[in-house]
Amino acid sequence: MDKSPILVTGGAGFIGSNFVLDVLAERLGPVVVLDKLTYAGNRRSLETVEGRPGYSFVRGDICDAELVEKLFREYRPRAIVHLAAESHVDRSILGPGAFVETNVRGTMVLLMAAERFFTSLSAAERESFRFLHVSTDEVYGDLVSDAPAFDETTSYAPSSPYAATKAAADHLVRTWHRTHGLPCIITNCSNNYGPRQFPEKLIPLVMLRALAGESVPIYGDGQQIRDWLHVSDHCRGLRLALERGRAGETYNLGGGNQIRNFEMADRICALLDELVAQSGHAPHETLIRLVEDRPGHDRRYALDTGKAERELGWSPQIKLEDGLRGTVEWYLHNWAWVESVRTGEYRRWMNENYADRAAGSGI
Ligand code: NAD
Ligand code: DAU
Repeated sequence: MDKSPILVTGGAGFIGSNFVLDVLAERLGPVVVLDKLTYAGNRRSLETVEGRPGYSFVRGDICDAELVEKLFREYRPRAIVHLAAESHVDRSILGPGAFVETNVRGTMVLLMAAERFFTSLSAAERESFRFLHVSTDEVYGDLVSDAPAFDETTSYAPSSPYAATKAAADHLVRTWHRTHGLPCIITNCSNNYGPRQFPEKLIPLVMLRALAGESVPIYGDGQQIRDWLHVSDHCRGLRLALERGRAGETYNLGGGNQIRNFEMADRICALLDELVAQSGHAPHETLIRLVEDRPGHDRRYALDTGKAERELGWSPQIKLEDGLRGTVEWYLHNWAWVESVRTGEYRRWMNENYADRAAGSGI
């Protein structure tokens, strides 16, 4: 087991917490989490490893250069997996400032600190050090229905402020590799789903609103396509990118499950009909409503994952049908977690984003 830790930014978020649990379960060495605990961060997601040797949690902001420098000096990580971000597209439309601050400036602060630390390492340590930056398929823009999937050479064409800040961060990461020689790797993944996702995102939102007998808002005509990747398949991809990825390279990690939003909502409602028939709201699909579209809404995403298959030996393993069932069951069995995130901020957001949305454009 490696004694130097992996520094995970955003480790209390959805993907971050799954990644931390995964690394510790696989006994890949110690982990240090740096997380600001915004509304999207939740220490409960990591409660099963709290107090365990090899796990440390630091509450702090990636934009705090002094703190970040101190963490590099103190923990001497063998790698950094950078997941901290403002991650919700709708929030970036209503308030882009926090996105620029965390996703762009925060990434630059991390890169500068990592570079300084890297130059202090021995030749052998430099050989294995990695800065793994976790990015998104949204940097590529959107696809018309029959266009080929994005590959790693596709030009960037972000549509939302969120995607623009992720694209800017990717560019910064690339320049730190080219100009400063920092061994960076970028992964661009498609829509993740699975346990511990904040219920502002489509899958938990549909599930929790339907269970409560609330309307299930589907934007526009509901025909947009997303390529769903189970978070544990993604976490395995990140581990392989760390182990086998070549410095300076980008890898697309996609789920190979392209489905329309309307169908996704239907499938979740059908699972609820089966698993929670006594909810009092079955058939849950009757709660689905088309509402006013998200401005700039990307129509379709799809990723070509050939490079990750060839170079990392990675491909997604979890079938959407099984992954969705497991996800719905996880939320049903972890109701204390659900209640812990449906706090004031969740309610405020539901009101801000949905209360005044007009009806959608019809199927
Ligand atoms: P999330 O919103 O669930 O979690 C983000 C985490 O970052 C939270 O724990 C939050 O507290 C923390 N954070 C935010 N600002 C911070 C700051 N300034 N300093 C320190 N911590 C801060 O996000 P997620 O869905 O887990 O996404 C993780 C990463 O993966 C993001 O970079 C996102 O862009 C990328 N990504 C996500 C998806 C997806 O489907 N969820 C897909 C592609 C890429
Ligand atoms: O593609 C990767 C991206 O996936 C990540 O980079 C983002 O961090 C992550 O949030 C996610 O972005 P999306 O915008 O695709 O995810 P979201 O869950 O917000 O929406 C999924 C689809 O469902 C999208 O087409 C918008 C639609 N939608 C979403 C919400 C919240 C609705 O129809 N109704 C809703 O209420």
